[in-house]
Amino acid sequence: MPMEEVNERILNPKVTKDDGNDNSLRPKEMRDYIGQERLKQNLSVAMMSAKDRGEALDHVLLYGPPGLGKTTLSRIIANEMNVEIQITSGPAIERAGDLAAILTSLQEKSVLFIDEIHRLSKVVEEILYPAMEDFSLDMVLGKGLMARTVRVPLKKFTLVGATTRAGKLSAPLRDRFTIINRLEMYTPDELFLILNRSARILGIQIEADACREIAGRSRGTPRIANRLLKRVRDYAVYYNSDTITPEIAKIGLTQLEVDALGLDKVDIAILKTIIDKFEGGPVGLDTLAAASGEDNTTIEDVYEPYLLQLGFIQRTPRGRICLKRAYEHLGIPYTQEVEFTLFSNIKSNGESDE
Ligand code: ADE
Repeated sequence: MPMEEVNERILNPKVTKDDGNDNSLRPKEMRDYIGQERLKQNLSVAMMSAKDRGEALDHVLLYGPPGLGKTTLSRIIANEMNVEIQITSGPAIERAGDLAAILTSLQEKSVLFIDEIHRLSKVVEEILYPAMEDFSLDMVLGKGLMARTVRVPLKKFTLVGATTRAGKLSAPLRDRFTIINRLEMYTPDELFLILNRSARILGIQIEADACREIAGRSRGTPRIANRLLKRVRDYAVYYNSDTITPEIAKIGLTQLEVDALGLDKVDIAILKTIIDKFEGGPVGLDTLAAASGEDNTTIEDVYEPYLLQLGFIQRTPRGRICLKRAYEHLGIPYTQEVEFTLFSNIKSNGESDE
C-alpha cells in the first residue's frame, strides 16, 4: 500500500478497518475507564440510583468528537447495569420496520446504543419518540380506509444515543434524553495512562518517554493513540528492538507524517489556506473544504475540534480565523496582532498613533 494511503488513515479518529475498534483494549468497567471524570461521576450516580430503584437507567445522550469512547461507555453502562446491549447506528436503521424489530426484541432494562443518532431519518425518529417516552410502539396496520393504529407495549429500556455534535440533533429527540453528557478531548497525561494500559494488554514494551511522545501526538483521542501505538510497534519490530524507545517512537511518528503536535497534512493544508490565501481569515467552511479536499462534515467533526483545542483557530460568525499559536507552530511571522493594535488605537483615540 502506498505510504500516502496509510498516512491518510492514521490520524482519522473515525473507525477504520485498520485497527477496527480493538475490543481487547476497551475498558469493561468504569473504574478502568481513564479520564472524563465528571461524566463518569454523573453516570455512576445515575446508574446507582436506577439500580437502587430497580428501574432501567434513564436515556443517555453522549456527544463529542469521534474516537473519545462513546461506544466503550455504552458497553460499560450495560455491563455495570448487568443488562444486555444492542449496538446499531443511525444510517443502519433504514426503515421504520427495522427499528420496530429492534425495539420489540429488547429485554427488560437493556441498553440500545444508537451511534450517529443524528443520522436517523424523520420517519424512524418519530417511532423513537413514544418508545422513549412511554415505552410503546405505535404501529399502523392495514392501508387506506382500513388503516388503524395499534399501540404495542415495549419492555422498559435505556437508549444510549451518540453523536459528534448535539446541535445536529432535532430538538424533539434531544429533549427526550435526560442524561446528556459531552465527552472532552483527553489530556496528554490521560493518554499516557491509556497507552500504558494498552501496551500492557497487547504485551508491548514501551519506555515512558516513548509513551509520552505518542500521547502528545494523538490529538486528544484514545482511538488515535492506540492506533499509533500499534504502528510504532511495527517500527520496533523493524529495528529489531523488543522495546519501543523514544528514538523509535520519533522515527515511526515522523515516517507516519504525524508532527510534534499530532497534526497531519490536512490540518496543515487547512491552516495554510487560512493564512496564505486569506491573510489569516475569516474563511468560510466551504472554502476550507475545497482547499483541503475534505468534506464540510469531516472538517467540522474531525479536524476543527483539535485545532480549536490547540487554540490554533477560532470560529467567528464570518468564518474561521487563524490564531497566533498556529503561525508560531508553522514558523510563519504573525502580523495580525500589530494590525489589531493599530486598529484599536484608531478606534479608541479617533486617530492613529502615527
Ligand atoms: N481505551 C480507549 N479509551 C480508553 C479510556 N478512556 N480509558 C481506558 N482505556 C481506554
